[in-house]
Amino acid sequence: MKRKVQLSRGLFLKGFIGVLILGALLVSFTFSKDEISAENIDQVIKEAHEKFKGIKEGKNADYIPYLAKVDPNLFGIAIITADGHVHLVGDTKYEFGIESISKVMTLALAMQDRGPQVIKDSIGANATGLPFNSITALETLGKEPQNPMVNAGAIATTSIVLPKNNKAEKWKKMHNYFNKFAGREIKVIDELFKSEMETNQRNKSIAILLQSYNRIFDDPMIALELYTKQCSFGVNAMDLAVMAATLANSGVNPMTREKLVEAKDVPEILAVMSTAGLYENTGEWMYTVGLPAKSGVGGGIMAVVPGKMGIAVFAPPLDPAGNSVKAQKAIEFIADKLSLNLFSAKK
Ligand code: DON
Repeated sequence: MKRKVQLSRGLFLKGFIGVLILGALLVSFTFSKDEISAENIDQVIKEAHEKFKGIKEGKNADYIPYLAKVDPNLFGIAIITADGHVHLVGDTKYEFGIESISKVMTLALAMQDRGPQVIKDSIGANATGLPFNSITALETLGKEPQNPMVNAGAIATTSIVLPKNNKAEKWKKMHNYFNKFAGREIKVIDELFKSEMETNQRNKSIAILLQSYNRIFDDPMIALELYTKQCSFGVNAMDLAVMAATLANSGVNPMTREKLVEAKDVPEILAVMSTAGLYENTGEWMYTVGLPAKSGVGGGIMAVVPGKMGIAVFAPPLDPAGNSVKAQKAIEFIADKLSLNLFSAKK
């Protein structure tokens, strides 16, 4: 009898320890998953919004009159995961000028048309270390535009998209591609386009200079106009997050499931974002945040976390390099809280 009690006690003890180990394993599994759970993302973007909404640093772009008039207090954060979950806080439905962020989608289209080698040979993949609209870079760094993320490279990239010498057809194709990236029909903000066309003399000089170096591959004025038009697309933070999430999801839009970029081409796109996505400040950005990103003077920044998510933040006031102050701070905070830095081994 005594032995029987001892035996069942022993069994109970073993079972209890087993349950404890299983429980500990489950807790640690849930904990590591928790770092990037839906609740965690919601919590972190809410915190980021709360923490940075009062910041007054920076100034709206004013070299394009339309941009100077946008409410500087607008602030929205959007994350779309690679499996299509949506996380939003703040002004995520307000439509603003996509501006230079458009350079990424046009690069993807040019790559689809001509492949990554043509991009590397005709434009380049190095940082200029100079402002986005630098003419000095074009004159001194080897007559190549250097990178599809600076204006010279972006105008040349637009010129690479097929067909040549047919403005209407090329635009139709570009517009359609941008719609697919956003997962909805987006429109050009006419007032912004007009404002950009009236003030794009510097970009015109770049286009003509590229022509003199045989570094533009369509009528330079077609390339210039369509580059200016793509910059004038109106998007909201959620659209940008879908675009970033498409790149995070190996080129497949996670909302529509449509494949827009060959998976093998995505790393090249992310590489040029990592060298020049925030212009002359890209090195510091990669140093502190460690994510490929692209900014626009409309106040948007989108960042890509490969395999995981697209992050987009919109807040108009910019630093002297033309990058949204609040968007940089918010993405840095989110990347830190969710341990997203690509160079970190703790995954
Ligand atoms: O080329 C330009 O001046 C503008 N339309 C776009 C520039 C831009 O967004 C630079 N980004 N931070």
